[in-house]
Amino acid sequence: MTAARLTRLPAWAALRAHHAAVQTTHLRELFEADPTRGERLTAEAAGVFLDYSKNRVTDETLKLLLQLAEECQLRDRVEAMFGGEKINVTENRAVLHTALRAARGSTVNFDGRNVVPDVHDTLDRMAAFCDRVRSGDWKGHTGKVIRSVVNIGIGGSDLGPVMAYEALRHYTDRTRTFRFVSNVDGTDFAEAVRDLDPAETLFIVSSKTFTTQETMTNAATARAWLLATLKDDAAVAKHFVAVSTNAAEVSKFGIDTANMFGFWDWVGGRYSMDSAIGLSTMLAAGPDGFREMLAGFRAMDEHFRTAPFAQNLPVLLGLLTVWYVDFFDARSVAVLPYDQYLKRFPAYLQQLTMESNGKCVTLAGAEVDYATSPVYWGEPGTNGQHSFYQLIHQGTNLIPCDFLMFGKSLNPVGRHHDLLTANVLAQAEALAFGKTAAEVRAEGVAEALVPHKTFPGNRPSNVLVVEKLTPFALGSLIALYEHSVFTQGVVWDVGSFDQWGVELGKVLAQRIVPELSGAGELKHDSSTNALIRRYRAGRGA
Ligand code: F6P
Repeated sequence: MTAARLTRLPAWAALRAHHAAVQTTHLRELFEADPTRGERLTAEAAGVFLDYSKNRVTDETLKLLLQLAEECQLRDRVEAMFGGEKINVTENRAVLHTALRAARGSTVNFDGRNVVPDVHDTLDRMAAFCDRVRSGDWKGHTGKVIRSVVNIGIGGSDLGPVMAYEALRHYTDRTRTFRFVSNVDGTDFAEAVRDLDPAETLFIVSSKTFTTQETMTNAATARAWLLATLKDDAAVAKHFVAVSTNAAEVSKFGIDTANMFGFWDWVGGRYSMDSAIGLSTMLAAGPDGFREMLAGFRAMDEHFRTAPFAQNLPVLLGLLTVWYVDFFDARSVAVLPYDQYLKRFPAYLQQLTMESNGKCVTLAGAEVDYATSPVYWGEPGTNGQHSFYQLIHQGTNLIPCDFLMFGKSLNPVGRHHDLLTANVLAQAEALAFGKTAAEVRAEGVAEALVPHKTFPGNRPSNVLVVEKLTPFALGSLIALYEHSVFTQGVVWDVGSFDQWGVELGKVLAQRIVPELSGAGELKHDSSTNALIRRYRAGRGA
């Protein structure tokens, strides 16, 4: 097996040496030296303006990072992905989520076949179904109109749909209730349906594999809940639809495959919210809203595929992350949307980023000798300011931040939006430039307090500006992060499209399930054995 090659690339060595020379340079110096920096270090595409000037980079840094991208053959890798090559090597699959948003009439070949007509057939079927439900034409088993929609799924079959529902709430059908059940904790289901009428409820069982324990358990509970009231197995056909790649398991569950919306094994779970997995999004925001979102994805895809790397938003974001993770030892990235509708965006990004690049071996199986994915996390501003920003400003970890700001509010109320915007700008400014001890002293602060009131600054951030949160903007932002993750994965040479790390826990859980209710001998470690015994005693086994 060949050793990981990244740290042996010429650009890597050059970046190491360069980092040693610039690591203490302060953003204050960089801005003083170049009054045009704030306008120069920007890029714009697909409705997203990126100001990356408050990053700890010089022109030389950017040149070397771009050289690194070339040496990692990023351009070829992008073409391999868009071209339908089986770049998910450990599962021998293509990675074609970009085909999900290809324009009608365009061509994306996979295994010698154009997949775009299939994509649009599914979109058209989804749209026809959504129109029927939204108009009230699709009725429940007792003839009542569907008033509540419950998506049952987990991971990529949940996080994208929930995030998109919240993000697009302004554009949604407010006459209907949307709920999302993911956790195998029965509380999730119980609370989601507590106030719903089964006769008016539609369940969407969303699972690529249709074998995921949590989803299948929740789906079975949902069926039992429905039938406890409607008392007729035939009701399932009117109250359950499925989104899956596994028609056989869908039928086995009892859902008519006529009520199934499919997708393909070249769509990874965390890259699937714009496939049929987005059925709840389409029901809420309407087929036109969904198509507008796809157009946003597509605009960013085209930019990523064609723009020179120096102006390429996903490439820049991805390379900046590599710079901080591998040269400044940053271990996390905060994503801070200044829009309440994006409250689930950081949670969505957690799966996208960490399930993709949380890997410790290269595509060829060699152990990496450099850091890979940072932890992504965040909360909407301004709430986070009153909780964890303290650490970002004065803590001992370097945490690069992505601030998402919007030109216009969807709910213009008084001066709220100006206040929100003033806050996001102030945070990025404070992080970058801080406040020196001399500045603190000049305010007459008692000497003992000076160290506490000093802000070191030099804490990097990107500011992403979008005019307004529309379906188009949402699609564009998601594709931006998808491709930034791709860029990082190419540099780190990891398999960004598998997730073997989640398997072991699943297998062990299957083994433990019968042990919890049994009384047999336990053959785990002493800690697990003792915890199982304690649980058994508590549940009365
Ligand atoms: O366990 C991880 C995972 O496989 C994710 O990658 C996926 O998004 C999620 O489970 C749900 O899978 P499915 O859609 O097949 O139920």
